[in-house]
Amino acid sequence: MGFAEQKQLDELYVMPTFARKQVCFVEGEGMRLRDDAGKEYLDFLSGIGVCSLGHCHPAVVDAIAKQAARLIHVSNYFYIEQRGEVAKLLSDALNGWRPEDAVGTWKTFFANSGAEANECAMKLARVWSRRNSHGGNIIVTLEGSFHGRTMETLAATAQPAKQELFEPLPGGFVHVPINDLEALQAVFDAHPQQICAVMLEVIQGESGVHPCTQEFLRAAEQLAHSNGALLIADEVQTGIYRTGKAFAFQHFGIQPDIVAIAKGVAAGVPMGACAAREDIAAAFQPGDHGSTFGGSNLAMAAAHTTLHVLHDEHFTTRVTEVGAYLAEALAGLAQVIEVRGLGLMLGAELDEALAPDVVAAGLEAGLVLNAPTPTTLRFLPPLVCEKADVDVLIEKLSTILSELGNKE
Ligand SMILES: Cc1ncc(COP(=O)(O)O)c(C=O)c1O
Repeated sequence: MGFAEQKQLDELYVMPTFARKQVCFVEGEGMRLRDDAGKEYLDFLSGIGVCSLGHCHPAVVDAIAKQAARLIHVSNYFYIEQRGEVAKLLSDALNGWRPEDAVGTWKTFFANSGAEANECAMKLARVWSRRNSHGGNIIVTLEGSFHGRTMETLAATAQPAKQELFEPLPGGFVHVPINDLEALQAVFDAHPQQICAVMLEVIQGESGVHPCTQEFLRAAEQLAHSNGALLIADEVQTGIYRTGKAFAFQHFGIQPDIVAIAKGVAAGVPMGACAAREDIAAAFQPGDHGSTFGGSNLAMAAAHTTLHVLHDEHFTTRVTEVGAYLAEALAGLAQVIEVRGLGLMLGAELDEALAPDVVAAGLEAGLVLNAPTPTTLRFLPPLVCEKADVDVLIEKLSTILSELGNKE
C-alpha cells in the first residue's frame, strides 16, 4: 500500500490527536530511518527519546524474537523470567552502580508507559503517607511540567492549556514555578501536614528542556523530608543514561524516594517502571495496585538486554562526550541564543519563532527534528549517536537556518 492510501486510511479511521508529519518510516538501523519511498533520514528524536539503543539494535531484535517465539505474556499472577533481574538492574542503576552510593534496595512496579509509572508513583506516595506519615494527600508539582495524559497525570501536569478541556480533573495538586524556592517553602507553610510528595522532572522535557537548579532540587528534597513527604523524580524522559548518568538526579547530589522510568528502558518495547526505596515500597500491599500487561515476558526480555548493553558498553562516557560535542556545535550556530540540558537531551533556543519551520525543512533535508515550542529545537537522538552524526546535523541545520533567516 502506498503512502497516499496509508494516509487516507489513517485520516478516516485513526483519532486526530496528533498533527502528523507527512512521512511513513518503514525501516530503521541505529541512527537511520528509511521511509516508504526509500529516502534516508538521520533521527535526532528516537521516537521521543525511546529508541535508546538506536533502531533495531541486533541484541534487542534477537532478544525480542527469541522471547516472542517462547512466551509473550502470562500476567502478573505468576513469576516471570528476568523480571527480578531487570528490577535488580534498575536498583543497581538507581544506586549509581556504586556500592558506596547505595541507599539500599529499590523495588519496582512494572507498567507500560510513563504516565502509568507516574500514576503508580503518586498512588504509592498517598498510600505511604496514610500508612506511615501524617496522611497528607497533596502532591506538589512544577509549572511547565509534563507527567502524562491520563486524568491524574494531567492534573499533575501544570500546563493550563493542556488541562482546561478535560476539567474537572482529579484534585489534590498544588503547582509552583520551577526553581522558585520561596514559592515552594510557601506551599509547605500553607499546607502543614497535608503534603505527601513533591513530584518533579529534574530537567523538564516537553516544556522545551528546562533544568531545575541544584539549589532548588536540594531544597525540594530537604523540604519534602522535613515535612513528612516524599520526593518523586519523574525520570521518564531523563532516565536510562539519556543525560550521561543512569538517572539525571545523580548529577545533582539529591536522593529521591520514588523514581518514574519509561521511554528508553526497553529500547522501543512499551514499558514503564516505578521504583521506590524498599521502605517506601513496603507501603503497598497485594491488591493495592496492578496492571494486566505491565512487566510482560516480552518487555522483560527487551529491558534485560537494553540495560545490559547500556551498562556494558559504558554509555555514560559516550553520551557525555557526544552530548558535549553536540551542545558546543549548537551553541556555535548564529541563530541559537541558548543551549540547555545535559548529555543527549538538549534544547536549542532560537532568536526567532522558526522552530516548526526548521523541523519541516529538516524532514525535507533528511533530518528528524523536534520543536516542543515555536522557539525551541529539542534533540533526543538515540544514545548510539556519534560525533560524525552531529557533524551531518550541524552542516544541514546551519544551511536550513540561514535559508529560513534570509526569507524573513
Ligand atoms: C517527563 C515525562 N513524564 C511522563 C511522560 C508520559 O509518558 P507516556 O507518554 O509514556 O505516558 C512523558 C512523555 O513525554 C515525559 O516526558
